[in-house]
Amino acid sequence: METKNHKILFIDDDISILELFGVIIENMYGPNSIDKAQGPKDAINFLEENQNSYSLIICDYDMPPQGTGQEVYEYLMSKKIDIPFVLFTSRTQEDIPFIQYVKSSKFYYMNKITRPKDWQKKIQEICHSYNDLENEKQSQFKAVRFYHFMRHSLSHCDVHIKLADEKFVKIINANEPYTKSTIEKYHTKGVSHLYIKNEDYDNFLEELSEISFLAMPHKDDDFITAAKKNHEILGSMIKSLGVTNYTLNLASRMSEQVLSEVSKDEALKPLLDKIVRSHDYSYDHTFLATCFTTAICNELNLDSGIIKKLSLISLLHDIAITDPKICKLHDLYPEELQTLNKDQLNELESHHYLFEKISLNNDVVSDLANIQKHHHLGQEKYPFPPAIGLERANILLSIFCVAHTFVVEIYKSDFNNEDIPKILAKIKAIYHTSNFEKATWALDRVTLVKKNT
Ligand SMILES: [Fe+2]
Ligand SMILES: [Fe+2]
Repeated sequence: METKNHKILFIDDDISILELFGVIIENMYGPNSIDKAQGPKDAINFLEENQNSYSLIICDYDMPPQGTGQEVYEYLMSKKIDIPFVLFTSRTQEDIPFIQYVKSSKFYYMNKITRPKDWQKKIQEICHSYNDLENEKQSQFKAVRFYHFMRHSLSHCDVHIKLADEKFVKIINANEPYTKSTIEKYHTKGVSHLYIKNEDYDNFLEELSEISFLAMPHKDDDFITAAKKNHEILGSMIKSLGVTNYTLNLASRMSEQVLSEVSKDEALKPLLDKIVRSHDYSYDHTFLATCFTTAICNELNLDSGIIKKLSLISLLHDIAITDPKICKLHDLYPEELQTLNKDQLNELESHHYLFEKISLNNDVVSDLANIQKHHHLGQEKYPFPPAIGLERANILLSIFCVAHTFVVEIYKSDFNNEDIPKILAKIKAIYHTSNFEKATWALDRVTLVKKNT
């Protein structure tokens, strides 16, 4: 029987730590057992909203420039919030002066060099010692989100589906190649996780922190074929978010059409070739943005000319950013842009002015240039280009911004359906002016089915 009654607040400015340890916590206590905060301020917001629902807080110490874990602990003390607190840091205890003044028996120190297996054991012990769970029976299996298996054609351990509590059936043999169709049928029936045995879990986690987001298409594929393979994998992931087959087919066709048209441009061809073969956030999110702009257009009964323009800008909007890590950072974690050097910041700034540098033979270039320039509209922490008021966005820009923000947020939440209501509320709060109402209304409709399930 899985334990589902713990909720953990995990605070760290390092996204990869949040993601890796988030997987472990999800497996210990279920898919909604973790809230992730990226700094003290973020953490305090979570605590103000949900302080009574956490069984444990795990907090990094150094989170420059936002502050330190000490601020979170002092907040807890000032509010007399009595929750076990783990300071999880790469510093030694001696190097953190405030620890010597801590009197609470619910304060723990853990070093970041702790192995994941030992870390998990310690966290379980702490949670259990403050909660009445002594009769809990540990599962023999660990759950892993379905889409992680879409990236591979081979697993180094047996993979199972869960039929009932403690009843598992093997569907993939260790070290035997499998195809997407072997597992996709379970996904279409609503299966969100596959299961591996406890003893395989540590190795799996180690691979998980290394591998990229998607399966490698064959390196000899031409780039349209490589794109098609990516579209299939990404498509099967977002079907579970409410995007219909009709929309997916249309978005795939549009993407392939604009890819082949734009690749005729000498300046863009090498950039396109690179992004399509990148197998990371850069291309994933351009295609996902096409899917959601297409879905919104369908809800609004907009014509195929508009769908095509938005597919084109989805494809091109970040193409001038040559480093995929910077591409991911600027969309997902703009507050960390200050860590970039001057050249990187210059390249980032100039990606807004793509259409001033290329001679795309297209009669819609002025519309595209406007979206390109303002595609980060509404992102408070993003420094380029000079902000315009939200109310100046036309319908095309409003659809792109709403779709793109949804893609960014669902990516950050690991494609978890259950976060959709929270994401939609956030999007409506950002894009609150009346000119965004059509786009947010349509996105609501696109995700309606999944939001209610
Ligand atoms: Fe983007
Ligand atoms: Fe961008």
